[in-house]
Amino acid sequence: MSINQTLKEYKIFNKSCYGLPEVLDNSIEAVITDPPYGISYQNNYWDKDLPNKQIWQDCYRTLKPGAFCAIFSSVRLMHRLMVNLEDSGFLIKDVMFWAYLNGMPKSRDIALDIDRELDVESKKIGTYKYVQGYKKNGADSYKTSHEKNIFEPVSELGVLYKGAGLGIKPAYEPIILIQKPIEQNLTVAQNIIKHGTGALNIEQTRIPYDRGESKVGHNPHPDGRVTSNILRTDTLNDGYDKFFAVPKVRQHADDFNNHPTLKPVELMHHIVKLLTWEEQIILDPFMGSGSTGISSLILKRNFIGYELDKDYYDIAERRISNAVTDLNIPTLF
Ligand SMILES: C[S@@+](CC[C@H](N)C(=O)[O-])C[C@H]1O[C@@H](n2cnc3c(N)ncnc32)[C@H](O)[C@@H]1O
Repeated sequence: MSINQTLKEYKIFNKSCYGLPEVLDNSIEAVITDPPYGISYQNNYWDKDLPNKQIWQDCYRTLKPGAFCAIFSSVRLMHRLMVNLEDSGFLIKDVMFWAYLNGMPKSRDIALDIDRELDVESKKIGTYKYVQGYKKNGADSYKTSHEKNIFEPVSELGVLYKGAGLGIKPAYEPIILIQKPIEQNLTVAQNIIKHGTGALNIEQTRIPYDRGESKVGHNPHPDGRVTSNILRTDTLNDGYDKFFAVPKVRQHADDFNNHPTLKPVELMHHIVKLLTWEEQIILDPFMGSGSTGISSLILKRNFIGYELDKDYYDIAERRISNAVTDLNIPTLF
């Protein structure tokens, strides 16, 4: 089966993306995806390893020459992902820096380990309520909370090392911006004329000037500054920031979408607008609960998505259907 490339439509698959057999060669204008990071985030079974390089070769096959991609990654393993992307033929163009600022530091008090190692009993000084995030367990998702004890070190070395940890608070995620090379012997302009790909859509993603600010530069653009490679969730200071701002999604216990790494649709809007023009086709091989798809369709792009997990696929299908109900977008379900 092949995707009709002229209609504005979407097609999502509940299966592994490897091979992308449903997608034609040189048919896609952008891959925008948030793949497994390979860091076992919240012990999710699907996040144990980075994707095999094969999928990036599959994406390369399906992308038009000159097409751009945005691949979310983690600070710890982005280097491996970037090598895989480069080895698959892509040009590394930039790394966007999504500063969400409010990540959770994951570290324990090493001083208590020292007490234990020295056979000294740490002192209990109180309790706190520990709320465990959503976890996958077969078909079930759940959220639990229980009391945990608070200890302080007692041994001399333990006291010296009080509060020592193994990591700092994560406050940003890298988004790797890559490009399939333009067709050999063509200029960028010729590539755009032939394939509709080869440049970023700067115009749609300008950052408006601050109120009352006089425009900057020799030839100021009326709509604002060129978007930068820093995206943030909150103001970095009390005043105007020159960067795109998007809040991080906070999960609610009663929300039907319990995907643990849900990306804000507003963030996806920015990336979809930057990488593509209306009517083009966006592919997300690891769509999770479907944020890339929702954004693509709202912004009048076509969308193809893959998700292996049936529960997440169902959530994506429901979210996308809800989003497009009023938009009158044809589906190929
Ligand atoms: C980081 S999550 C994507 C979350 C998504 N950005 C969202 O907003 O909901 C990665 C997803 O890739 C899926 N996945 C892992 N391996 C896959 C494969 N081989 N084919 C398709 N999906 C896969 C996982 O089930 C997971 O839902």
